[in-house]
Amino acid sequence: MTLTQAEKAAVVAIWGKIAAQVDALGTESLERLFSSFPQTKTYFPHFDLSQGSAQLHGHGSKVLGAIGEAVKNIDNITGALATLSELHAYILRVDPVNFKLLSHCILCSVAAHFPNDFTPEVHAAWDKFLSQTSSVLTEKYR
Ligand code: HEM
Repeated sequence: MTLTQAEKAAVVAIWGKIAAQVDALGTESLERLFSSFPQTKTYFPHFDLSQGSAQLHGHGSKVLGAIGEAVKNIDNITGALATLSELHAYILRVDPVNFKLLSHCILCSVAAHFPNDFTPEVHAAWDKFLSQTSSVLTEKYR
């Protein structure tokens, strides 16, 4: 499931645009997650998840910020997200199935914001990249 050089380049290129809108895209991805897959809200009983909440906004920005770290370290995502991987596996104990749901919502947000850049090739590259990132965040479970 390694990304080809062309796929890495596609991910990095569109990240250049996403980076300027990390807060908005992160928040939107979480709003999509909690609306489409309400079961994911059970991990956030301590959050105010209403639209426009400061917690939702802050967390969205953290999540997309971590995706940015993975993009910057695309050849060593495991190293870049090591601490986060331990947090999700050992402390938060998020069921791995939820990572597919969040990845889907991130993908939808990117597509909605950058429709002209979101070619089938870019879609496929991002899908693979998010899947690899999710694998890193869930590999400690095995
Ligand atoms: C916390 C990233 C997937 C639930 C965090 C934090 C980051 C992050 C950066 C903050 C860590 C800190 O404050 O030190 C990611 C990324 C994901 C992902 C990049 C996948 C691409 C998920 C999923 C769930 C989840 C699928 C559950 C549906 C949580 C929870 C917290 C957290 C409950 C703690 C929130 C708090 O109390 O502040 N995540 N996450 N994460 N994540 Fe994730």
